Amino acid sequence: KKIVLAYSGGLDTSVILKWLANEYSCPVIAYAADIGQKEDWDAVRAKGLATGAEKVVVADLREEFVRDYIFPAFRANAIYEGSYLLGTSLARPLIAKEQVRIAAEEGADAVSHGATGKGNDQVRFELSYLALNPGLTIIAPWRIWDLNSRQKLVAFAREHDIPIPVTKKNPYSSDENLLHISFEGGLLEDPWNEPDEEMFKLTVSPERAPDTPTYVEIDFEQGTPVAIDGERLGPVALMTRLNSLGGDNGIGRLDMVENRFVGMKSRGVYETPGGTILRAAHRDLETITLDREVMAIRDSLIPRYSQLIYNGFWFSPEMQLLQRTMDDTQTTVSGTVRLKLYKGNCTPVGRKSANSLYSESFATFEEDEVYNQADATGFIRLNSLRLRIQAHQQKR
Ligand code: ARG
Ligand code: SIN
Repeated sequence: KKIVLAYSGGLDTSVILKWLANEYSCPVIAYAADIGQKEDWDAVRAKGLATGAEKVVVADLREEFVRDYIFPAFRANAIYEGSYLLGTSLARPLIAKEQVRIAAEEGADAVSHGATGKGNDQVRFELSYLALNPGLTIIAPWRIWDLNSRQKLVAFAREHDIPIPVTKKNPYSSDENLLHISFEGGLLEDPWNEPDEEMFKLTVSPERAPDTPTYVEIDFEQGTPVAIDGERLGPVALMTRLNSLGGDNGIGRLDMVENRFVGMKSRGVYETPGGTILRAAHRDLETITLDREVMAIRDSLIPRYSQLIYNGFWFSPEMQLLQRTMDDTQTTVSGTVRLKLYKGNCTPVGRKSANSLYSESFATFEEDEVYNQADATGFIRLNSLRLRIQAHQQKR
């Protein structure tokens, strides 16, 4: 037996690493995924080995994350329950996919993760493992061990010489990547408590943002962002730039109570600076490049598409169908959007496209030759047919 553990270097997965090695008396490979969280990877490597890993593998998944997970979701304007931009939900299938690949490469027959038995992440990891290699054994320590409290976890860590982070205490459960950082737990568990300003990591507060607006132009090709202020950037550089622009201007904070797939409500606070700008820009470009009825049908699919991502069904046939459909709508979505960033707000103020369906000559309030206003008489008359029949009926 050999296990590949999705390892972050934090307290929970360090305890799991040691626990797995003890419990199963087999080699454990600690696999850490770099998806853009700020981390000292040498320290993670050293800590993994010191905690008993046979080997530590750090995989740089940043480019793939942005190109094949974030960008496709933003082409579809994905958003969960009207607010959440799915930063964690999008990363889990990629982390799982690489873990399955490493397991095959290393001849491991089991995979393990540090998600609890109460959350969404366990579902996302495991649906992905099972979709990609149903033969793997899945070990979810939180659902089987008796270290079911913080106190027991810390005691286990002490007992096994696992360093307990002494950095200024971070009482939150948080998850960071190139799209967002999430915070749950601690004082946030009471949904009436306002988050502490100290908690935020990627954004300044709107109050402390600059008093003058920042303008930014984003170019899209077929729904995918390719350049900022005229400079073509690769996916990672582009996300990084948008994150710092958004962060500096206090953009992308979200405080919500969401419905977890398992059925409970959970309070989460998110910072998604670049993603918030990207979504606003993309939607705005669609206003001139998408046909009305195509947009209406596409919009009706967004909740369903987003729920699939949230619930962990990234690697499913229905997801493939929806992604193809979403991407199909994007063939005309190329052009440039100009936005004004100011104290937490992100406002599109200009848009242009070679594919623009907007026609000044049709829309003008000045005299025009292309639109015959007399045509509207019959248009309204026939549209009113049902209404007139009903009105007569009611009079009788
Ligand atoms: N509630 C969010 C989601 O389900 C964030 C989860 C964060 N996960 C974590 N292990 N801290 O996508
Ligand atoms: C966890 O429970 O491990 C984190 C939160 C979640 O997965 O929803």
